Amino acid sequence: MPEPTRSPKRIAVYPGSFDPIHNGHLDIIQRMIPGWDEVVVAVLNNEKKKPLFSVAERLEMIREAVSDHPTCRVESFSGLLVDFMDHLGARVVVRGLRAVSDFEVEFQMALMNRRLNPGVETLFMTPREDYSYLSSRLIKEVFSLGGDLDGLVPAAVIGRLGQRMGSLRSWR
Ligand code: PNS
Repeated sequence: MPEPTRSPKRIAVYPGSFDPIHNGHLDIIQRMIPGWDEVVVAVLNNEKKKPLFSVAERLEMIREAVSDHPTCRVESFSGLLVDFMDHLGARVVVRGLRAVSDFEVEFQMALMNRRLNPGVETLFMTPREDYSYLSSRLIKEVFSLGGDLDGLVPAAVIGRLGQRMGSLRSWR
């Protein structure tokens, strides 16, 4: 009997800065898992954005947070997202849409990516309502001002924020 031909792996890419990852991001990743053979979380390596955490730290925090999902891999990329997707053999990029205010910039990115590579499709997914106001910027701000982040980020992220921003909190 001839071997059945294997169809290529269906891969979806979830790109972002993830500085740091929060539960809204994790909610999207969990929703993606059943839909694709492999989900690649792609961390942008762009020091111009002056991130709080290095790429290595962000990769470590995300890998720890998704360790229960064997079909999820976490990688960094620099340069164009569409080039990274070519390198992976992926055609689908997923972005989270929290509110209408996200739409304009996401629409621009989706159309630019399509222009750069017409084979790439952008899918938008919405996180659980409880997380629809979350952003990495707010997470850092609230932490630095002493606010409670319980239930909004993985525990490991709170630990890292403490190491990095603890000094800011102490003179509050
Ligand atoms: O979490 P962010 O900062 O909103 O993620 C933005 C990201 C990383 C998805 C976007 O900046 C990106 O894809 N950058 C890579 C450079 C690129 O491909 N630019 C042209 C298409 S928009």
